Amino acid sequence: MHLFINKYLCIFILFVGNVVFINFLLYKLNHVKISSHAVKLDGISDYFSTSCFMTSDGADVGGRIKKRVSYIRGQCENEAVKDRLQFSQIKNTEWPWIYVSRKHRTLYCQTPKVGSTNWLKVFSVLEGKFNDTENSAQVHNVPLLLLSYLNATEREFVLTNYTKFMVIREPFQRILSAYRDKFLPHAGAGIPMFRNLGKKIAARYREDDAIPRDLKKYNKLAQKITPSFQEFLQYVVDGNNYVIPTHYSEPRHWQRQIDLCYPCRINYDYVIDMKYAEEEANFVLKSAGVPPEIRYPKNLNLPLDEMSKGDIAKRYQALPQQFYSKVNPKIVNDLYHYYKCDYDMFGFPPPPQF
Ligand SMILES: *[C@@H]1O[C@H](CO)[C@@H](O)[C@H](O)[C@H]1NC(C)=O
Ligand SMILES: *[C@@H]1O[C@H](CO)[C@@H](O)[C@H](O)[C@H]1NC(C)=O
Ligand SMILES: *[C@@H]1O[C@H](CO)[C@@H](O)[C@H](O)[C@H]1NC(C)=O
Repeated sequence: MHLFINKYLCIFILFVGNVVFINFLLYKLNHVKISSHAVKLDGISDYFSTSCFMTSDGADVGGRIKKRVSYIRGQCENEAVKDRLQFSQIKNTEWPWIYVSRKHRTLYCQTPKVGSTNWLKVFSVLEGKFNDTENSAQVHNVPLLLLSYLNATEREFVLTNYTKFMVIREPFQRILSAYRDKFLPHAGAGIPMFRNLGKKIAARYREDDAIPRDLKKYNKLAQKITPSFQEFLQYVVDGNNYVIPTHYSEPRHWQRQIDLCYPCRINYDYVIDMKYAEEEANFVLKSAGVPPEIRYPKNLNLPLDEMSKGDIAKRYQALPQQFYSKVNPKIVNDLYHYYKCDYDMFGFPPPPQF
């Protein structure tokens, strides 16, 4: 099974590699300058005053989740929304990031930057690979069962009879988290993971004539260049997600959430909002009949931007404002429209300026 997947990925990566190269040549012919104006985003600090550590202090967690799920189902039945969303057709080979626990008859669709590492820990424990969800071992290397490994009959059985859930996150918060985690050096991850892609983005979008546009010279001279948040967002809203990835899984970290978990194709029983991650996760695990000793991790191993419980509220307000206020308003506007489907589908209130 793994061999098959690997072969598949290799072909895909080779294909993507060629596309990357050709497109990079095109970029050099077509370099766009962006003027940046600092802008004050009124109200944004209140808007972002939420974090994954929020609890609703005894509020009706189940009722809140139920309301969210029924809102999403309503959106799926809304012809206007459906037409606009244009869901891609799913082929048999395309259910790659949905984890299945046979033992606990549960299914989780993974969205990167939405607590996915914590959920891999939970599934590793559900499947008996770890004893404890607080375990910090290399959870990304644990072999877990994916829906795509199952044949059509079994897949149908699982999709009908198992408890199914996904986790969502406010899109502006999610893409900022992706940028900080993958492109900026930080504690526990000194080398930005997407360094090659970051260099390509900076080469494409930086307003600095000192940067050579020639890729060979650029690679030699610019080992440490990271794209600014604005450069990264410009790359995303330009629709280049699928054009210059350097690794097959990169775009998933900022790809629209509706395109990752097929919320209108899979009848999710629960949709967790990252804002209340721990509280809602434990509610869902309990509802799925998971024994009480298996619980969502207490966020001890989160990336820097989601650590430090003490001043988390302050950081969550200050950080997005700090980053987004430096981005050209036109790009922020384009970004909102890029994620409009997610805002509509999942019922996130739009950022205050929209
Ligand atoms: C889990 O704990 C048990 C007993 O405490 C131990 O025997 C076993 O090796 C542990 N398994 C793993 C995967 O750590
Ligand atoms: C699907 O997989 C299950 C479990 O491995 C197996 O029992 C079943 O025969 C398979 N069905 C088909 C149609 O291949
Ligand atoms: C769901 O489970 C029931 C009971 O085991 C079974 O009869 C039914 O065929 C399953 N549904 C699907 C689509 O496999």
